Amino acid sequence: MFIVLKMAIMRHQNKYSLTARLLHWASALVIMWATLSGFMITLPGTSEHTKELIAHFNVALTALFIPFFCWRVIHRMLKGAPVYNVLSNKEALLAKVVHIILYLLVGVVLFSGLLMMDQDIVVFNVFKLDPLVQNASWINMFKSLHEFTTRLLAAGIVLHLLALVKHEIVGHKILTRMV
Ligand code: HEM
Ligand code: HEM
Repeated sequence: MFIVLKMAIMRHQNKYSLTARLLHWASALVIMWATLSGFMITLPGTSEHTKELIAHFNVALTALFIPFFCWRVIHRMLKGAPVYNVLSNKEALLAKVVHIILYLLVGVVLFSGLLMMDQDIVVFNVFKLDPLVQNASWINMFKSLHEFTTRLLAAGIVLHLLALVKHEIVGHKILTRMV
């Protein structure tokens, strides 16, 4: 009863729960780091040593991130989102659709990243997984999917940030929902 009441208050306070906020910011850090550093190491002039260091670190970090992402999606499905009191129905629907697309893209990026691995997936020397796919043409297909969806995700994140800036400029307090 107390939890149901607390959830109802939270939805109308226009703020995500503390768990949702912590999961959002932890995910944002991991995803922005993996995106920026992932693209950076594909630039000409990056030394082989730096490439290897970042690629190994990112494989471990993003593999560890998978259970947190599942937790975030389940938490979101169970707890919902606070109602918007500053957006029109159309804008609220658009925000919802873009958020769903972001969740789907992160899911496909994680899935394709795991399945494109042709070497062991080493997680900080704590545990390692054998490659999940053996067939070379499937591995290449997942590599192309990873490259393509990481670009789409980067574009989606830019859109997410531009939308936030636009709302802040016109006086819609959206950022406070997540802090
Ligand atoms: C949050 C999820 C992830 C993001 C945002 C991300 C981002 C990226 C980006 C931007 C690249 C460079 C793409 C390009 O070549 O243009 C990349 C490459 C790569 N990713 Fe991911 N990735 C994620 C998850 C994963 C996972 C789960 C794995 C495997 C466990 C993985 C393994 C790799 C590998 C091996 C490369 C190639 C690195 C190299 O050039 O040698 N990624 N990733
Ligand atoms: C500095 C970077 C970021 C800022 C300032 C930021 C800010 C916010 C804010 C204020 C919201 C609430 C929006 C609303 O209620 O309509 C939100 C939601 C969301 N953000 Fe971010 N974000 C950032 C990075 C990211 C990144 C990298 C991702 C990765 C995909 C992401 C994915 C999402 C998703 C999926 C939601 C919807 C939450 C839900 O309803 O479940 N954000 N973000």
